[in-house]
Amino acid sequence: MTDQPIPVIMDCDTGIDDALALLFAVRHPGLDLRAVTCVAGNTDVDGVVRNTLTVLEHAGAGDVPVARGAERPLIEPVRVARHVHGEDGMGDLGLPAPARRAVDVDAVTLLRREILASPRPVTLIPTAPLTNIALLLRTHPEVTRNLERIVFMGGAVTTGNATPVAEFNVWHDPEAAAVLLTAGVPITMYGLDVFKRVLVPAADVQRLRAGAEPRLRLAGELLAHRDPATSGDPTPTGGLGDAGAVCAVADPDGLTTELLPVEVSLAPGPTRGQTVVDRRPHPGEAEIHHGTREQPLVDVALDVDVERYVKLWLETVEGI
Ligand code: RIB
Ligand code: CA
Repeated sequence: MTDQPIPVIMDCDTGIDDALALLFAVRHPGLDLRAVTCVAGNTDVDGVVRNTLTVLEHAGAGDVPVARGAERPLIEPVRVARHVHGEDGMGDLGLPAPARRAVDVDAVTLLRREILASPRPVTLIPTAPLTNIALLLRTHPEVTRNLERIVFMGGAVTTGNATPVAEFNVWHDPEAAAVLLTAGVPITMYGLDVFKRVLVPAADVQRLRAGAEPRLRLAGELLAHRDPATSGDPTPTGGLGDAGAVCAVADPDGLTTELLPVEVSLAPGPTRGQTVVDRRPHPGEAEIHHGTREQPLVDVALDVDVERYVKLWLETVEGI
């Protein structure tokens, strides 16, 4: 077991919780954030690039290369989530424009370059629709030789958010998610079932908002941002959201997973974008009558140590 930092690359649609994930990834000593790529999702891809650069500047990581990626899914139109993340995708905090620009290559090119250049296998952490990842895997499948694992925030074992059964990142580009699942490298699915449980208590949110450093105040304001759909709560408690997936890379023992078959429903209609996780103890009549189908096996997150990840995230971001 090496004590060298894990090389990681994130693919984001920054976004409130993508920002919380980036703040953590930059500061955790066990992670080496080598690049960030951007894709349309929570807001348009240019807004994602702007927000990502802004967050990295606040985190003191202005040297991490950022690249612009897909501005729409493979098949579907863009269907942004401004109703959750605000018009600018970052809670409409009125942050100044970033000083830096994205690199002059596209996301797929940067992903390939940085994955193959890494001296040790990279852990790829998509926290957004998987369009860039699908394009990468189809354009440069050779990258898998230097990928340790893909830990993606997406999918759901039980209840969806974009639809009753589909989680937003998968729902936004179901075909891309299906490509991801057949990448041929180990995959961890950090889905809504654990995503929605990791909440920072109100007292910690208020402490961050009063923090001395811009990074802390940004973290506090992001955590305090209420999804207008649930803004009735008088004492905002901030969901770490995507940041939990990065915590799972830094501290995998805080997550309980099971290797299970997972398929993405691509059929038009009420199940499109659903991640169908097969938790049956044995095959059923479908297999008896129609034979078994080869299905991708994924390490699916079934439980999370909430206190452990909240403590880890707070200590890392606050530097204590
Ligand atoms: O469904 C939650 C996911 O969709 C998160 O990654 C959030 O940032 C949005 O991208
Ligand atoms: Ca996201």
